[in-house]
Amino acid sequence: MKTWTATRIRQAKGKQKLACLTAYDCTTARMVDEAGIPLILVGDSLGMTVLGYETTIPVTMEQMLHHTAAVVRGVRSALVIADMPFLSYQTSIEAGITNAGRLLKEAGADAVKIEGGAFRADLVRALTANGIPVVGHIGLTPQSIRELGGYKVQGRTAPAAAQLHADAQALAGAGIFALVLECLPSPLAADITAETPVPTIGIGAGPGCDGQVLVSHDMLGLNEQFLPRFAKRYAELAPQMRTAFAAFAKEVGSGTFPGPEHGYDAG
Ligand code: KIV
Repeated sequence: MKTWTATRIRQAKGKQKLACLTAYDCTTARMVDEAGIPLILVGDSLGMTVLGYETTIPVTMEQMLHHTAAVVRGVRSALVIADMPFLSYQTSIEAGITNAGRLLKEAGADAVKIEGGAFRADLVRALTANGIPVVGHIGLTPQSIRELGGYKVQGRTAPAAAQLHADAQALAGAGIFALVLECLPSPLAADITAETPVPTIGIGAGPGCDGQVLVSHDMLGLNEQFLPRFAKRYAELAPQMRTAFAAFAKEVGSGTFPGPEHGYDAG
């Protein structure tokens, strides 16, 4: 059994701040796990970070299964949450159970994450009743980007804030063990956190959440196209990678690589 389980995450509420990073491959997942991070999210953000799409919408179940299985192979302690991709759970509760079940059964995920508010409560009940731990995700829900009209802060009007309060309570009542709050005003996220019985994991939702999640490519400085305001850079890997690639190309061109120490003698 993993060190981190859905039960332990739920019980961390009010006792320990929870860190979560995305990972999409075995090597990165191993390093995140070794850093002692309790939650690893195989986000459908892999559509942008790894696969080169503009949004998460084209991401398929097969891609999520492939990347989740790779992450799971690198992790010993952290709880691995797999995102359910667009249209893998929206069409029916049966489809949701089947696809969530595949992420656990075929890829080895510990839990799934679904986007949406109170209208997902029946699905959450069905998944948890069938033994599938669920993380909710409200606020800016990237799979609804076409409907939302862009990557904007959510919950800035009184009715929208009231709806988010209701969504959090409905999802918690239905059985989620954690709730991602994306791009909400900090005071609203803090209020929702105070009244929600499961840990909230914020991204662009301020310091009042029970935990924080970042996209690993953003925090490592690998995403140079667009850095959201909330995404702090903890490293600048892209320039280092470019320097290394250019140095390799130069040494191959000049014949300085490989040196004698990189070759084998006749034995
Ligand atoms: O796909 C993802 O990486 C996510 C995070 C932004 C929470 O859902």
